[in-house]
Amino acid sequence: MQKKVTNTVAAPTNAGGETRFGLAWSRLYDPVFWLFMLPFGGERRLRRAFIDFAAPQGGGQVLDICCGTGTLALLIAEKVWGSGRVVGVDLSPEMLSLARRKAGRDLPVFFRRGDCEKLPFPEAAFDKIFISFGLHEMTAPVRQNALREIYRVLQPDHSLFILDFHLARAVLPRLAVATFMRLFEDEDAYRMLVGDTLLREIEEAGFTLGPKRLVKAGVFQMLRADKPALVP
Ligand SMILES: C[S@@+](CC[C@H](N)C(=O)[O-])C[C@H]1O[C@@H](n2cnc3c(N)ncnc32)[C@H](O)[C@@H]1O
Repeated sequence: MQKKVTNTVAAPTNAGGETRFGLAWSRLYDPVFWLFMLPFGGERRLRRAFIDFAAPQGGGQVLDICCGTGTLALLIAEKVWGSGRVVGVDLSPEMLSLARRKAGRDLPVFFRRGDCEKLPFPEAAFDKIFISFGLHEMTAPVRQNALREIYRVLQPDHSLFILDFHLARAVLPRLAVATFMRLFEDEDAYRMLVGDTLLREIEEAGFTLGPKRLVKAGVFQMLRADKPALVP
């Protein structure tokens, strides 16, 4: 059966151009996230496992969408050399200013403000695209627009890598994720994790689903989504 592909970007829905990651949240983000990740073996370990999942090497052009304070982008930049570079994009100027402060001058990483519904890059500009804990922050229409934009700026025959929460099968981890989502995120974030909602949205944006890895008792998922090669 043929897939239903809707890779035309609808009018941007995030009209205000803001996220909840303003001044207060941006300052709290790194320490809170670090603490939150302690029971799961630590933030660095999860991020490094995600980078290994994607295996970035050499001189590619890498995009980290919803890069926040830049922790993942900086770790990826350590793996990129030669003509390669990592670009981190986020809507929050406060998160970006922390990212720039953490970056220093030695790594090939750049941060710029941008809305993932309307990415400020030409078509097929990147070899690899990452998004960690970004998709659950969006309402469903924003997320669907973002996935289509990611598809547009990714080179054909290359991949998007997603790290986010997952509704585990086992009762306790499932309850933990569901409770966290209900308390700290909105309804769309929870719905994204139910059934195959996210996988369906990824396919509707034009991607082919690649391998999926569940980690930490299924509390987190790593997904690869491939943009098919151009047919000659
Ligand atoms: C939970 S944080 C994740 C940050 C980082 N990727 C990480 O792994 O720690 C979500 C980030 O998404 C950003 N964001 C939310 N909506 C966005 C949008 N429409 N365009 C760009 N960034 C957005 C927020 O500003 C915030 O920095």
